[in-house]
Amino acid sequence: MSPQPELHTLFTRREVEDAVNRLAAEISREYHDKNPLLLGILKGSFVFMADLIRRLDFPLEVEFLRLSSYGRGQETSGKVRVVHGLSIPIKDREVLVIEDIVDTGLTTVFLLDYLRKQKPASVKLCTLTDKPSRRQTPVNIDYLGFTVPDKFIVGYGIDCDEQFRNLPDICFLEGEG
Ligand code: PRP
Repeated sequence: MSPQPELHTLFTRREVEDAVNRLAAEISREYHDKNPLLLGILKGSFVFMADLIRRLDFPLEVEFLRLSSYGRGQETSGKVRVVHGLSIPIKDREVLVIEDIVDTGLTTVFLLDYLRKQKPASVKLCTLTDKPSRRQTPVNIDYLGFTVPDKFIVGYGIDCDEQFRNLPDICFLEGEG
C-alpha cells in the first residue's frame, strides 16, 4: 500500500479572508456602477464565489459555467469540456470570470475564447490562486489572490480526486498518494 500524501497549510483561513476582502475592494472600484455578471467556473470556484459576492455591496448578477479538464487525475487532459453551459445570454454584459486556480492556463484560454464569441461588453478574470510555474499558454489575470508554488493545491473549493474541497484553509498535498 502506498503512503497517504500529507496535507500542509499554505494560506490560513484568515489570510484567505484578507485576500478576499482586498479583491472585493478592487472589484468594487471598477464594477460598482456596471451591474456585472460574475461568472463562476465550477466546481472549484463555488466557495470563493460565495465569500466574494457577500463583500460586494452593489448590484450584480451571478452565473455559473461548469468546465472540466482534469477528470479524476492530477494532470490536465489538455482537453477542456463544457459540462454545463451558460443559461443566460452574455451579449453586451460586463463579465467577470471567477476562478479558483489558473494552472496550465488551458482552461482560461478555452473559456475566454468561448465567452468572447458571445460578444460580451468586456471579459475580465479574477482568480483566487495562480500557479505560473506550470503555464503552457499566456494568461492575463486582472485580479489575483495568491501566487502558489508548483505543488498540488487543495481546499477552499479546490479538489484532488473530488476530495478536500471542504477545507477552510488553502493547503497542499505532498508525498505519494
Ligand atoms: C480546475 C480549476 C480551473 C482549471 C485550471 O478545474 O477550477 O478551472 O482546473 O487548470 P488549467 O489552468 O491547467 O486549465 P478542474 O478541471 O479540475 O475542475 P473542477 O473545478 O470541477 O475541480
